[in-house]
Amino acid sequence: MSGNYATETITADAQGVVRAAQILRAGGLVAVPTETVYGLAARADSEEAVARIYEAKGRPSFNPLIVHVASLEQARALADFSAQAERLAAEHWPGPLTLVLQRHRGAALAEAVTAGLDTLALRMPSHPVMRALLEECGAPLAAPSANRSGFISPTSPAHVLASLDGRIDAVLDGGACERGLESTIAAVRADGSVQILRPGPITLEASPMKGRGIEAPGQLASHYAPGKPVRLMASEVAPDEFLIGFGEVAGECTLSARGDLLEAASRLYACLHEGARSDKPRIAIAPIPEEGVGIAINDRLRRAATTPD
Ligand code: TXA
Ligand code: MG
Repeated sequence: MSGNYATETITADAQGVVRAAQILRAGGLVAVPTETVYGLAARADSEEAVARIYEAKGRPSFNPLIVHVASLEQARALADFSAQAERLAAEHWPGPLTLVLQRHRGAALAEAVTAGLDTLALRMPSHPVMRALLEECGAPLAAPSANRSGFISPTSPAHVLASLDGRIDAVLDGGACERGLESTIAAVRADGSVQILRPGPITLEASPMKGRGIEAPGQLASHYAPGKPVRLMASEVAPDEFLIGFGEVAGECTLSARGDLLEAASRLYACLHEGARSDKPRIAIAPIPEEGVGIAINDRLRRAATTPD
């Protein structure tokens, strides 16, 4: 994949974090490790930098971005923290929970970050490299997952380069992501109720979704697509299929032979990337129990199995 950039890989040591922060402060794009997936970061207060995220990903402009912060103080300067929001942040931050809150009208954010919504998605990540980077930058960072729009999310620098090499300034190499699935997104309403807009590593007590339920504009039916047909709930494999196994169903790539859902989550995108790269024209995936983080895994698999219009 070619583009206008000579994408550099930066080792995530102290010096590397300083270098990545320099690029970001100057308005550049750096793919960064988080505990969930790699993010494609740019300073959230620069229209130009944020526009480059949309361009590099080929992301539709109606799909808003998550803003990553170093501290609660930084978060409180951008959006309204109700008692319920404070409670969720105290319990789960830093960590893989994104809160959708009412944005402050005067918040120092590029308009494109929220894509015209009056709400803002905020997250304080726990990955030590990302935390050090946010501190060093001194500004909040907008960061969607570091993949071409609609494609499989990246959990390693190699995954990032497979789809964005030549389209971004740098990748900050912090190794593989521990959780492997994007953050849980929870909207906190004015009346204190909480709705899950995207299931993820953190399972919360929340009100059931009302209406059509696709409020996170990025939650399109087809997403995480490996570029070939995907068959779910497979217990045996056809000769032309790449099988992704779980538990007793052993595949060419297995999410967790001992049936551990956390391990399965951390390996999900790596197995999908492998399936996408294989010579087999189809992918089949073993059944995953619909419980705990299995709910988020099945959410991603259903979207991976849906063909784009
Ligand atoms: O774990 C994660 O959340 C990763 C890492 C990099 O932090 N980021 C991530 O970003 O998954 P992205 O852009 O791939 O997904 C963000 C989702 C999209 O579905 C978007 O529509 C939704 O968040 N979103 C952003 N702002 C929103 C808002 N104000 N209201 C509702 N949904 C919002
Ligand atoms: Mg994404």
